[in-house]
Amino acid sequence: MRLVCVFLLAALLPSTLSHNNRQDPFAWLYGPRSQGYYLGSLQADNTGGDCPPECDCPPTFPVAMYCDGRGLKVMPTIPSRMKYLYLQNNAITAVPDSSLVNATNLVWLMMHYNQLTSDKIGEKAFLKMQGLERLYLQHNNLTRIPRNLPRSLRDLRVSHNSIEKVTPADLEGMDNLTILYLHDNAVTDMGTSLKGLKSLMLLDVSGNKLKKVPQALPERLHQLYLEFNSIDSLPDDFLGRVTQLQYIRMAHNELTDKGIPPNTFNVTGLVELDLSYNKLERIPPVSTTLQHLYLQANQIKEFTLGSFCSIVDVTNFSRLQTLRLDGNEISSQDVPTDSALCLRLASTIEV
Ligand SMILES: *[C@@H]1O[C@H](CO)[C@@H](O)[C@H](O)[C@H]1NC(C)=O
Ligand SMILES: *[C@@H]1O[C@H](CO)[C@@H](O)[C@H](O)[C@H]1NC(C)=O
Ligand SMILES: *[C@@H]1O[C@H](CO)[C@@H](O)[C@H](O)[C@H]1NC(C)=O
Ligand SMILES: *[C@@H]1O[C@H](CO)[C@@H](O)[C@H](O)[C@H]1NC(C)=O
Ligand SMILES: *[C@@H]1O[C@H](CO)[C@@H](O)[C@H](O)[C@H]1NC(C)=O
Repeated sequence: MRLVCVFLLAALLPSTLSHNNRQDPFAWLYGPRSQGYYLGSLQADNTGGDCPPECDCPPTFPVAMYCDGRGLKVMPTIPSRMKYLYLQNNAITAVPDSSLVNATNLVWLMMHYNQLTSDKIGEKAFLKMQGLERLYLQHNNLTRIPRNLPRSLRDLRVSHNSIEKVTPADLEGMDNLTILYLHDNAVTDMGTSLKGLKSLMLLDVSGNKLKKVPQALPERLHQLYLEFNSIDSLPDDFLGRVTQLQYIRMAHNELTDKGIPPNTFNVTGLVELDLSYNKLERIPPVSTTLQHLYLQANQIKEFTLGSFCSIVDVTNFSRLQTLRLDGNEISSQDVPTDSALCLRLASTIEV
């Protein structure tokens, strides 16, 4: 858990703290706030100019417009110079086709915590924003991903809506999409909608109604969050293509031993595997390179050391640091004494 947190935190920290690495794939995430512009909004001067009266357009940062938390019900007019538009925490219900016609330069559009419904978003509303990289629409009332989103998106957040279906057309051509937050919706099936997302690194579909894992997982995927769904089995080639995957969270599903093909999780590269709160009766075989394994609250009846090490010697041992087995049908007496050789790095074993 801690490892994941550190990773995510690093991605969201302002550049002054974590921007030293030139090849940082998340550099685009840090954005204008980290450059000291944000304070400017507090001393905004709206006199004259083209700034709508309900918003702030800080003179020190002429490409940003702050309209968040002002009880807005309709979209403001948007001067075409704007790149960063903050509209979150309002009561906006509609995005008509005409409302974003001038916003052709937008790079960020923040519209989370509004009252948007899918039938009130124009078919062409987002079409003109050819350089849009971040679109935040979480905590609205959407029943589908808006149509015709710009292909330039890197970070799309539509979590906490009522989305039931994701179709291939919704995400088609989004070559640069790196982060997709779809969690806390009502998605039952994702079909092959992820297929073309060649840059996707983080997928969060937790808290939905999936019975199967999404098909055609993108090859660059790094973090896969599927907890709180109804998944009872995994396909044979589940992790075949996704060799860069480091974190899998599948807690609170319906997984059984029968539903997991042999050696599914015996893949190198995985750092953390969370299968807690499922229906497993055995410990699935895992790679010796895995570092954190969460299996609490299953129905595991025996401690199979062979799931961690098939042979034990100087070089063959498990790199596991955390092993959670509490809330199962075993006790500490069931842990064989020779485990210490195989699990020699484990600092936390809870049974
Ligand atoms: C777009 O810009 C034109 C010209 O500046 C302006 O008259 C119009 O009201 C703007 N429309 C919107 C929706 O912002
Ligand atoms: C959006 O959903 C909330 C909570 O379910 C509801 O109170 C609100 O009336 C809905 N708004 C619209 C515009 O449908
Ligand atoms: C993806 O990003 C690259 C480099 O920033 C850019 O040249 C390309 O046009 C982007 N792709 C899309 C579909 O916008
Ligand atoms: C994992 O796979 C390797 C070969 O890829 C094999 O040698 C090892 O025994 C397997 N581990 C377990 C616990 O089955
Ligand atoms: C186990 O150790 C032997 C050498 O002692 C090595 O050749 C082999 O690759 C190791 N196997 C694994 C699964 O690490």
